[in-house]
Amino acid sequence: MILANIMSNRFYITTPIYYVNAEPHLGHAYSTVVADVQNRYHKLLGEETFFLTGTDEHGDKIVQAAQARGLDPKSYVDQVSGMFRESWPLLEVEPDRFIRTTEPNHIKTVQRVLQKVYDNGDIEFREYEGLYCFGCERFYIERELVDGKCPDHNTEPVKLKEKNYFFLMSRYQDWLIDHIKAHPEFITPGRYRNEVLSFLKEPLEDLCISRPTSRLTWGVPLPFDDGFVTYVWFDALVNYLSGLGYPDDDKFRRFWPVAEHVIAKDILKPHGIYWPTILKALGLPPYRRLHVHGYWQMKDRKMSKSLGNVVSPRDLVKNFGADATRYCLMREMVFGLDAGFSHKAFVTRINADLANDLGNLFSRTLTMVKKYTNGQVPEPIDPGPEEKRLIEGVESLVPLWKGYMSAFETHKALQEIWKVINVANKMIDTTAPWELAKAGEERVGQLNSVLYCLLEAQRIFSVLISPVMPDTARKMREALGLDVQHMPDIDDTRWGLLRPGVRTERIASLFPRIDLKGTRMKETAVRAEGKGTHRKGDKVEGKQEEGIISFEEFQKVDLRIGQVIAAEPVPNADRLLKLIVACPEERQIVAGIAEYFTPEQVIGKQVVVVANLKPVKLRGVKSEGMLLAAKDAQGLHLITAETAAEPGSKVS
Ligand code: MSP
Repeated sequence: MILANIMSNRFYITTPIYYVNAEPHLGHAYSTVVADVQNRYHKLLGEETFFLTGTDEHGDKIVQAAQARGLDPKSYVDQVSGMFRESWPLLEVEPDRFIRTTEPNHIKTVQRVLQKVYDNGDIEFREYEGLYCFGCERFYIERELVDGKCPDHNTEPVKLKEKNYFFLMSRYQDWLIDHIKAHPEFITPGRYRNEVLSFLKEPLEDLCISRPTSRLTWGVPLPFDDGFVTYVWFDALVNYLSGLGYPDDDKFRRFWPVAEHVIAKDILKPHGIYWPTILKALGLPPYRRLHVHGYWQMKDRKMSKSLGNVVSPRDLVKNFGADATRYCLMREMVFGLDAGFSHKAFVTRINADLANDLGNLFSRTLTMVKKYTNGQVPEPIDPGPEEKRLIEGVESLVPLWKGYMSAFETHKALQEIWKVINVANKMIDTTAPWELAKAGEERVGQLNSVLYCLLEAQRIFSVLISPVMPDTARKMREALGLDVQHMPDIDDTRWGLLRPGVRTERIASLFPRIDLKGTRMKETAVRAEGKGTHRKGDKVEGKQEEGIISFEEFQKVDLRIGQVIAAEPVPNADRLLKLIVACPEERQIVAGIAEYFTPEQVIGKQVVVVANLKPVKLRGVKSEGMLLAAKDAQGLHLITAETAAEPGSKVS
């Protein structure tokens, strides 16, 4: 068959098809979200894409799992496959096709492939004696074992002698080595390419691809011998072809040349060695790239159904929402390396990057636009040095982001975006739009320029984050008055497309702050009331000698890092601002700082809060704590953390 030339304007992405011997967990979710992010990214580039995922439903493991639940295999696989299928929309994963290896069409394709390879003389019937691991459903050779045991199951394989069919994989060893060497991107990251090449230094054994029906019937019957079913891996790998309608469907012709697979390192050998040699034997070109990632671990052990240390994607979404979960998955794992999962790390990441950096930037900007330009995108004038810095930041971000996304280095792409988000946040502090507004007509041009640049940068951020956080991107675009029916594309990353005069809308915060539950919450649950501002001479109980207090006395003052999330003047009180401060639980504090700060200046700031002061009412408004500040000739300086700290952290 002649396949179309590689079309760079198409993209075909797959996940492993998951065994249905247990429910989906974070590890499965990660591979699937990676594929979804890539699918969305390539769509954004204007490519025609196809995204395939599904379930692997044959073999011993599945039969055993069904038996353990007192079910026949078919009802069991229907049930668990359904759980996988239903999990993905919760995470905003949108595959084009969900394939099941028990589908009649897939079974027909597997038989077709087997027959073709058999007819070509690449399958042989032989007697074989070897070491068989029932957990892996495959024979092992001595050098693959660790201390004589299966490395995955830590059990000794059983000596088994039987007649079986073998795929003559060894015939393709030299071809595979040459192909990998000639295509440096064939297996990425490089360490996995090296691993495969080093495995190929030893002579490759042929692959046993059948199981006698006396031992296993839950599989695809060999088309040339009904005394056998197909080895589950041969069956499973073919899904990447049957999912495209191989060999007759036009989809196959269009997408096979641009196939890219996402897997974790556990299944490198079947994908890096069996699969390309099977394709070669079929007369098909190999896939374009294989992307291999590491393991999510819990306390240094791989998260897996057999160890029972899994986190369910459903729970993650319930706790954090789909976009924030996707963000953490992509941001917390360096593609290719292992990563430890911790609930706390996710909460910290969400609060710092999403609620604070991005969420506050967005709400501060829209609040100012509402106040100073009546909610309309202002007409920009020549940008000043601060705005230029932001424009340059955004313009150099786009190619960097593209490079990282194309290389599956999403964590780096996100890091780069956040660097520029922080340039925008700093720009607000340095240009102080509230001062420009106060200055009236004279500075109105500069005010408009600052606001325009902030809005325009965030319009572009919304495009760049859209593969990872599609829902947030949509919300941002809607608030910016853009047409949400229009799917953003790469052209939308050009600076200057936001049209002056468009009406923006303030929206509820993009990401609510998340409280860490459990003991930490107990620690921070102490509430006390107090007067609003820092008062000199506040005394703590206890013996005082010439102004000296003991450490224990000092410790009675519960000082916490707080994050100001809202601020407004107190009516009829010129010196007071009413603040909502997350510590991390939200509390209302009335502070006597209005002479020195406008509400916009303090929103988003980190402050130090005295958290165990008795609540008081100031001008009839409840105040639950006070902020620390220092006063000198220049004015009032709020005490803050040197680098962003987690709200609620104890100051000591
Ligand atoms: N059915 C085979 C794959 C056949 S593909 C033709 C299989 N299934 S599996 O259910 O065991 O899924 C393995 C895959 O799930 C890994 O390769 C990876 O994509 C994902 N993960 C499972 N546990 C994982 C972690 N702890 N961490 C990261 N990914 C993990 O093997």
